[in-house]
Amino acid sequence: MDKKGIIIYKGKYGATQQYATWLAAALDIQAVTAGKETKEQLSNAAYVILGTSIYIGKLQLRRWISNHTDQLADKRLFLFLVAGTPVSEKQKLEAYLNANISAGIRSRCKCFFLPGKLEFRKLSRLDRWLLTIGARLAKGRSETIVTADYNHVRPENLDDIIKAVRAANEVPA
Ligand SMILES: Cc1cc2nc3c(=O)[nH]c(=O)nc-3n(C[C@H](O)[C@H](O)[C@H](O)COP(=O)(O)O)c2cc1C
Repeated sequence: MDKKGIIIYKGKYGATQQYATWLAAALDIQAVTAGKETKEQLSNAAYVILGTSIYIGKLQLRRWISNHTDQLADKRLFLFLVAGTPVSEKQKLEAYLNANISAGIRSRCKCFFLPGKLEFRKLSRLDRWLLTIGARLAKGRSETIVTADYNHVRPENLDDIIKAVRAANEVPA
């Protein structure tokens, strides 16, 4: 039997989970919240797709990835980063990855940037505060952090990653 891949994801308010769910359906594989996967699921997977959002420069999956470096060593790796930063700001998004993932993993991992969503009134008090303060600090650095609501989560944003995973695993479309 052909070995399948698995999606391991971590987000906070649903954007990463939505992408993981669509991706799982498109590729006919399982999507599991980080920490809920079994050892067997991970060791049996031919490839791993890591899905994560970002908060104040930190990937949600940062710790999981560093704790599972050994288990990921023999896997084909893909990663999708869900962020408020526009996908056109590649340098900033690349910098996030380099700051959060070891060079060893990063060099083996095909990465994709996906636009996220924000619904201010649904955020925890702490996240509202962090976002407001972050936006203020960013202004001083001539950067922009968007605090107004947005929702750019669309299934077609996954087209490139689906193509890349299929090509790498030679699964017919
Ligand atoms: C408190 C807070 C901090 C954030 N920090 C960043 C950041 O540093 N960089 C960025 O690009 N987006 C940032 N975002 C935007 C989120 O990454 C975006 O809303 C994403 O869609 C969240 O996905 P999730 O719901 O799956 O966690 C932040 C959002 C909040 C609420």
